[in-house]
Amino acid sequence: MRRAAAAHAIAIAAALLGLAAQPAVAQGKPGAPAGPGGYGQRYAALCAACHGANGRSDMPGTPALAGQHSFYAITQLFLFREGRRANEAMSAVAKTMNDTDLRGFSDFIATLPPVPAPPPATPPDAARMLRGQALAQEHRCLNCHGADLSGGQQVPRIAQQREDYLQLTLREFSSGKRPGYTQAMGAALSGIPVADLDSLAYYIARLPGAAPSTPPKPSGK
Ligand code: HEC
Ligand code: HEC
Repeated sequence: MRRAAAAHAIAIAAALLGLAAQPAVAQGKPGAPAGPGGYGQRYAALCAACHGANGRSDMPGTPALAGQHSFYAITQLFLFREGRRANEAMSAVAKTMNDTDLRGFSDFIATLPPVPAPPPATPPDAARMLRGQALAQEHRCLNCHGADLSGGQQVPRIAQQREDYLQLTLREFSSGKRPGYTQAMGAALSGIPVADLDSLAYYIARLPGAAPSTPPKPSGK
C-alpha cells in the first residue's frame, strides 16, 4: 500500500513538473491589466468573492491565498481538478481550468503580498500560544514550513492563515480525507491528538511577528 501511494505521489509530481516547467508566458493581449494573461481580472471575477479581492478571505473555511507560493497553488488546483482533493466548490472551479489556467491563476496568486490576520477580538491566550509553539517545535513543523512558517515552493505559507481553515485542514490530513500530493503531512501529523491539532491551528493563526513588511496593495475595492 505504501508503495502504491508513493508511486501515485510520483505520478502527480511528474505531471506537475510538466506543468511548472513550461514558461509562464503572458497569454492575453499585450497590456492586459492586472497580471499576466488577464488572470488578475479573472481572479477578481471568479475567485475574489470567496478568497477576498486582496487574497485574504473573510469566508469561514476558505483559505487566504495572499502570500501563497505559485508552485504550491498549482499543485492544489491540479489536485482539485483531478478530484484528488475533495471540495465541491473548488473542484467545480478547477474543472473549468486548462493547464494554462492552472499556471496563470497560480502565478497571479503568487503576486498577492501576504496580508496579516485582522487583529483578534481578544488577546491570545498565553498558555495556549506556548502549548502551540511547543507542539510546532516537537513535530518539526518549522523544518519544512520555515522558521516564520512562510513556506516556499511546494510548501505552503501557513503563518496567520485563518484558524477555522487550519483546524479543518489539519484534521483532514490527519484522518486521511486530504491525502496531499506527498505523504509529508500525513506523516508529520501521525499520532497527534485532535486537541493538539487545534492548539497548533490556534497558535499558527496568531503567530506573532508574522506580519509582512510589505503593506497590502490597495486592490480597487
Ligand atoms: C465558492 C467559493 C470559492 C470560489 C469561487 C473559489 N474558491 Fe478556492 N477555495 C475555496 C475553499 C472553501 C477552499 C478550501 C477547500 C478545502 O477545504 O479543501 C479553497 C481552496 C483553494 C486553494 C488551495 C489553498 C490552500 O491553502 O490549500 C486554491 C489555490 C484556490 N482555492 C484557488 C482558487 C482560485 C484560483 C479561484 C478562482 C478561479 C477560486 N479558488 C475560487 C472556495 C472557493
Ligand atoms: C516534511 C515536511 C513537512 C513537515 C514536517 C510539516 N509539513 Fe505541513 N506541509 C508540507 C507540504 C509539502 C504541504 C503541502 C501538502 C500537500 O498537498 O501534499 C503541507 C501542508 C500543510 C498545511 C496546509 C496548508 C494549506 O494552505 O492548505 C498545513 C496547515 C500544514 N502543512 C501545517 C503543518 C504543521 C502544523 C506541521 C507540524 C505539526 C507541519 N505542517 C509539518 C510539508 C511539511
